[in-house]
Amino acid sequence: MATRTILTLPDPRLRLVSKPVAKVDAEIRKLVEDMFETMYGAPGIGLAAVQVGVPKRVVTTDLAKKDEPKNPKVYINPELLWASEERAAYEEGCLSIPEYYEEVERPAHVKVRYTDLDGNEQEIEANGLLATCLQHEIDHLNGVLFIDHISKLKRSRVIKKFAKAARRETEEAE
Ligand code: NI
Repeated sequence: MATRTILTLPDPRLRLVSKPVAKVDAEIRKLVEDMFETMYGAPGIGLAAVQVGVPKRVVTTDLAKKDEPKNPKVYINPELLWASEERAAYEEGCLSIPEYYEEVERPAHVKVRYTDLDGNEQEIEANGLLATCLQHEIDHLNGVLFIDHISKLKRSRVIKKFAKAARRETEEAE
């Protein structure tokens, strides 16, 4: 296992549309292992492969609370089959936009189809935090970030802040 570097805003690779996984092979299993190590190390509750620079439709999550046993889940080629009209708001964050949190409203219930690590097709119905998390991660696979769901003013503010920080880092490295 190896920890991979998490891309952060405004890295343009975060806007790539990820490609479907044709076969769950050793390379994908290695990617998943690394994603878990990276996600637990961050720490975070969800990670899309594109966040570590691999534009493939692979998502890892673990929504277990601190005092609960680990609950690692892998979603390959996840697809939103249905979303409720009813909406729910959650304060979201993202490992690619560190230390920035904002409330986002999304469908409260969703149905998702995905392939598991054994290559079997699965379907789940999710609500609460899992519904939000799956929608957030599926967005990543389509090059969409949670800040795309907040007001234009707030979004441009956070993009400006991260662009400025990135420029500062480049200047310091020169
Ligand atoms: Ni994210």
